[in-house]
Amino acid sequence: MKSVLSYPARGRWGNSSYRGNCSGYVILDLLKFYRPKTFLEVFAGGGTGYEVAKELGYTNSIHLDLHPRWGGWNALKDEVPVSTDFIFSHPPYFDMVVYSGQVWGEAHADDLSRSVSYQDYIRKLDLVNEKLMSSLRVDGRLALLIGDCRRHGKYYSIIKDIRYPGQLESHIIKVQHNVTSERKEYKGQFVPIVHEHLLIFRKE
Ligand SMILES: C[S@@+](CC[C@H](N)C(=O)[O-])C[C@H]1O[C@@H](n2cnc3c(N)ncnc32)[C@H](O)[C@@H]1O
Repeated sequence: MKSVLSYPARGRWGNSSYRGNCSGYVILDLLKFYRPKTFLEVFAGGGTGYEVAKELGYTNSIHLDLHPRWGGWNALKDEVPVSTDFIFSHPPYFDMVVYSGQVWGEAHADDLSRSVSYQDYIRKLDLVNEKLMSSLRVDGRLALLIGDCRRHGKYYSIIKDIRYPGQLESHIIKVQHNVTSERKEYKGQFVPIVHEHLLIFRKE
């Protein structure tokens, strides 16, 4: 694994039409590289991490999401049910895709993508990151996949605005493929976003 990841195809894992889903190769490469004995995925969404974990032979992995398919686990209110040595977390990128009430079920007040403002979103994400980090075993790792976004011409750098929940061990850039901004022609001095960040925090 190097500090830039680029997967032109997302792979066969999970539901490719679940909005905001990620490539299974990210999770596959993380699990093959760090080889954790125990694995927790939060914000499991379309089941990408679940299918990767099963294929790699994890019989004890846990996958959670507010989506009823994953038990309706609420990252803001519920406890992390297990202590593991690796967590993959792929939260909403603010309100870029609104999940509850649009992708699934009814609108849920604790859906991070329904945060009332960007500040509210960052405050909630900080809470979740700290909760995840404290659930890890010593020497465990939290891998956070997160993008940047623009709203009404303003650039929001989520990785700049969050509080780091532990020691940053690696900052990996993941190139985005098959996103609208990659295909669209832009006029003027506008730089489309075609990357995401994968931050690896290690619990000391
Ligand atoms: C970017 S998607 C994850 C996509 C997933 N990695 C995949 O490949 O399909 C973010 C997920 O966060 C979930 N979510 C939003 N707020 C949540 C909360 N408070 N607790 C748990 N899950 C939440 C949404 O239901 C959505 O599935």
